Amino acid sequence: MRVAVISAEAVPYSKTGGLGDVAGALPKALKQIGVDSLLITPCYWQTKGEYLWQTAIDDLWIAWRGGSHRAKAFYSNANGSPTFLIDYPPLFHRDSIYGYTEDYERFAFFNHAALALLQRIGVAPDILHLNDWHCGFAAVELASRRLYEAYWRATRSVFSIHNMAYQGGFGLDELPALGFTSDFARNSFAFNGYASAMKAGLEVSDTLSTVSRRYAYEIQTHENGYGLDWLMRQRENRLIGITNGVDYDVWNPQTDPELPAHFSIDDLAGKRECKRAMLERFSLPVDLDRPVYACVTRLTSQKGVELIRQGASDILASGGFFVALGSGEKDTENFLQALRDYAPSRVGIYIGYNEKLAHLVEAGSDIFLMPSKFEPCGLNQMYSLRYGTVPIVRAVGGLDDTVQNWDAVDGTGNGFKFGPYRADKLLEKIYEARFAYEDKETWAKIQKNGMAVDNSWENAARNYVDLYSWTMAR
Ligand code: ADP
Ligand code: GLC
Repeated sequence: MRVAVISAEAVPYSKTGGLGDVAGALPKALKQIGVDSLLITPCYWQTKGEYLWQTAIDDLWIAWRGGSHRAKAFYSNANGSPTFLIDYPPLFHRDSIYGYTEDYERFAFFNHAALALLQRIGVAPDILHLNDWHCGFAAVELASRRLYEAYWRATRSVFSIHNMAYQGGFGLDELPALGFTSDFARNSFAFNGYASAMKAGLEVSDTLSTVSRRYAYEIQTHENGYGLDWLMRQRENRLIGITNGVDYDVWNPQTDPELPAHFSIDDLAGKRECKRAMLERFSLPVDLDRPVYACVTRLTSQKGVELIRQGASDILASGGFFVALGSGEKDTENFLQALRDYAPSRVGIYIGYNEKLAHLVEAGSDIFLMPSKFEPCGLNQMYSLRYGTVPIVRAVGGLDDTVQNWDAVDGTGNGFKFGPYRADKLLEKIYEARFAYEDKETWAKIQKNGMAVDNSWENAARNYVDLYSWTMAR
């Protein structure tokens, strides 16, 4: 089985969030279980030169806006699977990876280039595994071309939804300039009077998946379907949920090179050293018995930042440190700065994106807060579990699937979980966790329940193989 995974970001080449983690790890995990997989992703200005091993193709000609444009493809294996990085500086060498009004155009180009590359390689994949709205263009191009090009006839598409809230909208009038002139293409993209790359991918791909079982159900509801719930219900028999895995080569407290000390389920002593280092890093007093509540997140409403804002003073009143690493919405960034100014000996803030610090915060904290409004899967709660940092989550999406509420009677559960999207409900769990933290034996039991969980990619990759086989049989 030959699988080409296409993604707008992939670790270690680029990352803004969980999509990068997943797209970097899945092809490697597939390779490890014997699948002939490769990854195609853009080469950004941010992609480190050390990961661009060699120029594989110097003259990849792309038909684009009435002309022919020369792109390059670098080859690498830095993520543990063969990878081609499409290099086209006018569209991808920019200050940030996303956030431009013409993003739809940038990824339409990337999709054309990915298919051109796969054609150039000379062996069509059995499966084109597309991820999020950035890859909706390739779904339509494949569906059109395989009708009349023998090369693509046997290729099937799997489209994975990582986040329904981002749909890649643009004007329908733009479609011809992007190379989509047929009625089929126009109808696939058309959504409420504009073009949606997400809708196109969801409509024409052979099968669909999303990143947890619970989210597969949620996107069929009005509340979480972002206007496409009808399509999800219509295609429900082609949609499955596969929970993301964790790359334990990268997120493992026994080997993590970003940590000052290592620890494991059998010996947690090193975690205290990590806590000390983290408190020092945030210029907080080294009071190792006071619990640390932490967040590492994009600061957007998806992540439940308003509940943290509403609950912040009570979190401090409950006697903990609060540490946050994140960037995003300006008013939340300002709020965090103000909270730090208000209680500098209890609050540590880092506004920005910092990969190394994310590892230290996971290791050095006691309690991880993820009160998301919605969460397709979420990776940080799974990293927290492995690092003995007990997650408090809202019971949505992948958070609900991966965290079990602590039950003091039978000693089961690995975190704390609440339902209604309300600050008082979050606080109830914070008080419960605070209470459990006071009893060392109880706390160690909750930590170990979490550290014992196996969220490795191998299981998830096997589920993808089943999905690919099923898709090929259609
Ligand atoms: P999402 O993809 O919605 O942002 P996930 O939990 O799936 O949420 O993945 C987030 C990933 O991004 C994690 O690997 C997390 O550690 C990382 N991350 C988020 N914000 C930051 C930040 N400010 N600095 C470093 N890493 C971050
Ligand atoms: C998205 C989701 C997140 C998920 C990640 C990887 O960014 O917001 O919940 O973990 O994709 O699938």
